[in-house]
Amino acid sequence: MNIPLSKPFFDKEETEEIKKVLETGWVAGQGPKNKELEEEFAKYIGVKHAICISNCTAALHLALLALGIGRGDEVIVPDFTFPATAHAVLYVNAKPVFIDIDPTTFNINTKLIEKKITKNTKAIIPVHMFGLCADMDSIIKIAKKHSLFVIEDAACAVGNKYKRRFAGSMGDVGCFSFHARKNITSGEGGIITTNNQEIADTIRSLSCFGMTSAFSREKDFHIPTFTKLGYNYKLSDIAAAITLIQLKRSEKFIEKRRQLAEYYNEKLKDIKQVQCPVAEEYNRHVYQAYTILLDKNINRNDLITRLKEKGIQTQIGTYALHMQPVYSNVAECNEQDFPVTKIVFEQSLALPMYNELTFEEIDYIVSELKEILK
Ligand SMILES: Cc1ncc(COP(=O)(O)O)c(C=O)c1O
Repeated sequence: MNIPLSKPFFDKEETEEIKKVLETGWVAGQGPKNKELEEEFAKYIGVKHAICISNCTAALHLALLALGIGRGDEVIVPDFTFPATAHAVLYVNAKPVFIDIDPTTFNINTKLIEKKITKNTKAIIPVHMFGLCADMDSIIKIAKKHSLFVIEDAACAVGNKYKRRFAGSMGDVGCFSFHARKNITSGEGGIITTNNQEIADTIRSLSCFGMTSAFSREKDFHIPTFTKLGYNYKLSDIAAAITLIQLKRSEKFIEKRRQLAEYYNEKLKDIKQVQCPVAEEYNRHVYQAYTILLDKNINRNDLITRLKEKGIQTQIGTYALHMQPVYSNVAECNEQDFPVTKIVFEQSLALPMYNELTFEEIDYIVSELKEILK
């Protein structure tokens, strides 16, 4: 057996699309495939604007810049996330303020947010971890009360729905990733969503060197001017074409992942040392990752090695930011503030999850897991 942690699904359609794009000669950003993807993505999640970006980290960076967040400002971030979320806050010279998480959803514990709000707080970045929406009703309520922006880190959450609203459509800005381990992928890639025209225009310009009219080049002859210090965060038309095909399959992918997750839940339910992912009825988990929590007496790292020996690739859930040296001088990293994240960082385990995973392979994974835990 050789079961990877994750595996993107591509077929002939992607190959044919890549060929077509190569033949048109427009392989850089801002081409027809970027435009089509932006329109289709905005339609899918129900927002007015979508802007293709090279990856989700760049998307978070531009979201913060477009909202005017900078030096002296504070931004609330869950302590349990991939470091890209807090890195982006540091890119704009603001201070990330970490919050412990909920032990069952692995998302930000909204009850702890208000205690950390100061006169310098400007925004909250909820992360929809592993494809499950953070408690957006509470977050939006807190944000409104304290006049804060909400930037959804929806890197893992394409297609995730919370009370019938799609992830990335509830805050001021949504940031998505098309990295290889995400539900839909072009290898690397991202997209930003917003309902605000001004934010969309600023982000578009910042993603293309800070040009005034980054997208009007096909119209009359016009020499653009550079009004802001922008970046080159564009997405190639090749990547956009691949993502368009993937996007058409998004609902099918989600359905398959949810079936696999249900099967895992059923198979794992009588292992006492394992906590399976839990989702409320109104929160459609898209299982970018299927992450379990192991009892604290189990040596998680040793388990990863032993499963590998059986041909099963697994991985830690994600990171506890307060434990990462990069933040030690720029954020409050007192261990006593993050008891849940510490445990989840040390005891979470992502099991294989991808569209072509079979029920028989899950049977094998669970039987090996049981054998080792015996
Ligand atoms: C929660 C979260 N935010 C941001 C990112 C960064 O995404 P990208 O690799 O597209 O920059 C990731 C990547 O895994 C992530 O998991």
